[in-house]
Amino acid sequence: MPSDPAPAPIPRHLAVIMDGNGRWAQRRRRPRMIGHRAGARAVDVCIDFCLETGIEALTLFAFSSENWGRPEDEVGALMKLFLGALEREVDELHRRGVRIRFIGERERFAEAIRARMNAAEAQTAGNTRLQLSIAASYGGRWDIAQAARALARDVAAGRLAPEAIDEAMLGARMALADLPPPDLFIRTGGDTRVSNFLLWQLAYTELWFTETLWPDLDAATLRRALDAYAGRERRFGLTGDQVAGTQPQENNA
Ligand code: IPE
Ligand code: IPE
Ligand code: MG
Repeated sequence: MPSDPAPAPIPRHLAVIMDGNGRWAQRRRRPRMIGHRAGARAVDVCIDFCLETGIEALTLFAFSSENWGRPEDEVGALMKLFLGALEREVDELHRRGVRIRFIGERERFAEAIRARMNAAEAQTAGNTRLQLSIAASYGGRWDIAQAARALARDVAAGRLAPEAIDEAMLGARMALADLPPPDLFIRTGGDTRVSNFLLWQLAYTELWFTETLWPDLDAATLRRALDAYAGRERRFGLTGDQVAGTQPQENNA
């Protein structure tokens, strides 16, 4: 009897740039904020998909270091939306076994938001079904700088010799150090750039871009991304033969 084909590999960790909210609203001649509200619903679609497919970790880029520079009324409205989502969604996510964490420069948020973030993390700390990390006030450069600062503190305190610093040591102080690095990166909205997301952690992540605007996200789009991922050969700098575990056809020695 023919054996079943091996199941397609599922990414353990998915990282997403949720882009295109403003354009989604502008195409409907509505204010950008309407797009952000619709985008909040798409977050639920994405989380549901991860829970159903068995993806272990999901990291969502919600607000970048650079997004603080947007018009004051947009930043203010986004903060309100964020606070509202924290108030409404956390109990349900907890019930579904989701652990919630926030990565980024938390000090820049108002106290009411920080308190909710801390409470959400504490409430869900014991959950293991899905590791949900929300990157908010986050920048990849900030992340590298804060990790370097942590090492510098250890050196200054005499706990660490500068010569001992290596990639693993810096990596251990980066955000998400306890998770496997992202296997798959998705950016919606049609732009093909990383926009200061997880610069360190994305070193060998498979990148996938779609024109779909974030509020239009559906399971079919995510399924297409997973299918593309399943067809990729991840070589990590090695040769295809090495990765396949076969010998090269020709011996060129
Ligand atoms: C992403 O959508 C959400 C945030 C950056 C907060 P945008 O607001 O960037 O939407 P576009 O790119 O202008 O369409
Ligand atoms: C990246 O989107 C940040 C988030 C989705 C949170 P931006 O819309 O800010 O990125 P750029 O400005 O197009 O590079
Ligand atoms: Mg954008």
